[in-house]
Amino acid sequence: MIKIEDSLRNKIPNITFRDVNFSWPGKIKYVINNCSFSINKSGLWMIVGQNGSGKSTLLKLINGLVKPSNGVVNCFANVGMVFQNPDHQILMPNCRSELILNINQKLKLSRKEANSKIYTVLNKVGLDGFDKRPIHTLSGGQKQRLTIACALISDKNFILMDEPTALLDSSSQLKVLEIIKDLTNNKKNPLTVLWITHRFEELGFASAVAEMKDGNLSDWQKPSNFNKNNVYPLS
Ligand SMILES: Nc1ncnc2c1ncn2[C@@H]1O[C@H](COP(=O)(O)OP(=O)(O)O)[C@@H](O)[C@H]1O
Ligand SMILES: [Mg+2]
Repeated sequence: MIKIEDSLRNKIPNITFRDVNFSWPGKIKYVINNCSFSINKSGLWMIVGQNGSGKSTLLKLINGLVKPSNGVVNCFANVGMVFQNPDHQILMPNCRSELILNINQKLKLSRKEANSKIYTVLNKVGLDGFDKRPIHTLSGGQKQRLTIACALISDKNFILMDEPTALLDSSSQLKVLEIIKDLTNNKKNPLTVLWITHRFEELGFASAVAEMKDGNLSDWQKPSNFNKNNVYPLS
């Protein structure tokens, strides 16, 4: 597992899995089973798959929380994570303090520079003027957008999003999808996002889609190869 952090800011990530197997401690069955893929372009990469198929485990292998039982995982990226439930991620009482917590301390920014970054990322996620807002006044969709702003302010170039819209109503779901799509399309500094979902309806936004089945990931395909009406049952 190779992970290079600060030198990779503003670069396109390069993720490679080769013949990766993984089983959770004490279990014989591989939950990631002979998995090979790569991500080496910016864009919105989506993985769809039923509950229990190994999607979240795959993200844990990418960000190094667990190591493969065998095979090769290379991750040249500065990886950020957005969880399904923003309440599991947000620690501070208001938007500004949460964002400051996520600024890379090594940059030693002045107050003015920090403010400028805060305004920029809040604008990017459609939360202009929210810097002083207490977290408890935010809707679920606004909280999720704040967690995206936190990933952006920490200068991550590769964001893993694990079913980020699962708890949102359909208008917030659409807003979050549109924001991410715009960020991955940015001409000057495009973001790379790996988005996990079990909702086929979201796949139309993807640059490429792969399906996780019993721990094995299919080849990357065009979203049009997936049937919109084929929605997995919720949990
Ligand atoms: N921390 C863990 N310890 C042991 N087993 C786990 C753990 N996390 C997930 N699993 C098991 O691994 C399998 C895949 O789970 P997961 O990667 O969460 O799937 P998905 O995200 O596709 O729903 C499931 O059988 C689940 O019970
Ligand atoms: Mg999961």
